[in-house]
Amino acid sequence: MQKQHTAISSNLIDKLAKEHSLTANEYLYLIKNRAECSEYLFKNAVDVREKIYGKDVYIRGLIEFTNYCKNDCLYCGIRRSNKCAQRYRLNKEDILSCCKQGYELGFRTFVMQGGEDMFFTDEILVDIVKSIKAKYPDCAITLSLGERSFESYKALKEAGADRYLLRHETASKSHYEKLHPKEMSFENRINCLENLKKLGYQVGAGFMVGSPFQTEEDLANELIFLKKLNPQMVGIGPFVPHKDTLFKEEKQGTVDLTLFMLGLIRLTLPNILLPATTALGTIDPLGREKGIKAGANVLMPNLSPVSVRKKYMLYDNKICTGDEAAQCIECLKQRINSTGYKIVVDRGDYKEINLIK
Ligand code: SAM
Ligand code: FES
Repeated sequence: MQKQHTAISSNLIDKLAKEHSLTANEYLYLIKNRAECSEYLFKNAVDVREKIYGKDVYIRGLIEFTNYCKNDCLYCGIRRSNKCAQRYRLNKEDILSCCKQGYELGFRTFVMQGGEDMFFTDEILVDIVKSIKAKYPDCAITLSLGERSFESYKALKEAGADRYLLRHETASKSHYEKLHPKEMSFENRINCLENLKKLGYQVGAGFMVGSPFQTEEDLANELIFLKKLNPQMVGIGPFVPHKDTLFKEEKQGTVDLTLFMLGLIRLTLPNILLPATTALGTIDPLGREKGIKAGANVLMPNLSPVSVRKKYMLYDNKICTGDEAAQCIECLKQRINSTGYKIVVDRGDYKEINLIK
């Protein structure tokens, strides 16, 4: 019986590696039988990724510039109703000094991430984006500021932003509604992603693995959704509970399922820029290395000032909140070298190589 399963799973993985697409039921079969075929999946994922990106691992300098948030996502440690969160904002000078330090350390992409903070109007953000671009014209700017209007995304694009990360969180409307309060809408989230694409951003979507109420069917549908959306980046990481949220008692996502989803995403979207996330490194000390070996090719070390890092606590026990950026990057270089890959000084843009002849 065991043998028969292995044959079906490896045939499906071969098909995925060749055609880069499966039906939802086929994905579901693999997810359910992942224990027997994960090594084979990772081998294929790594092969595909090396054909496009070689052994290079791209780094993005993450600047967590505000933890104020008007939203109240049930899972998130910086949700507005968490009265225990100590709120902070970085100003333009703080942000530019993070970039300076990051540039010297070899970063060529800066990711400005924050809660949905109304203090940061288009005018303020446009000025910051323009200033970063003026000082570092060879760098890419990624924004991750949540849901904004088409006009706002347009102004930020015109100011010089290149990429935008907006995890859709789940491709299922009913699941979305279990993770978010009533005033937040699944349709608006998806509409924002469509607007970002229309405006010519390199777009990143994504979801948490093992979030409350998520089923294996939901995960299979994530792959169908991503194939259709065809983003340039996908950010996935395990759900990790935060002690001051309603989900504090929920189970965290697992390493094996997160790695398996990374492998499936790599084969479904071969050219994807795929981070091994901090959340994965948080639930397993070797999580990021394992992520790279499952098909990921991006890391997002923290460039935020050490004084604020513990305040951007999305989930419990987040790693790398005590170290200086220089220490973090040194540690990561060693970790990545040990896997046979290498961190490069590069903007790390999406490559359009087509593997289907
Ligand atoms: N406000 C922006 C947005 O909503 O896109 C960016 C910041 S938001 C905190 C970044 C991501 O953190 C979310 O998309 C979510 O997937 C992730 N996140 C939040 N709480 C988490 C948790 N408890 N465990 C794992 N990831 C979490
Ligand atoms: Fe801030 Fe979800 S709590 S965007």
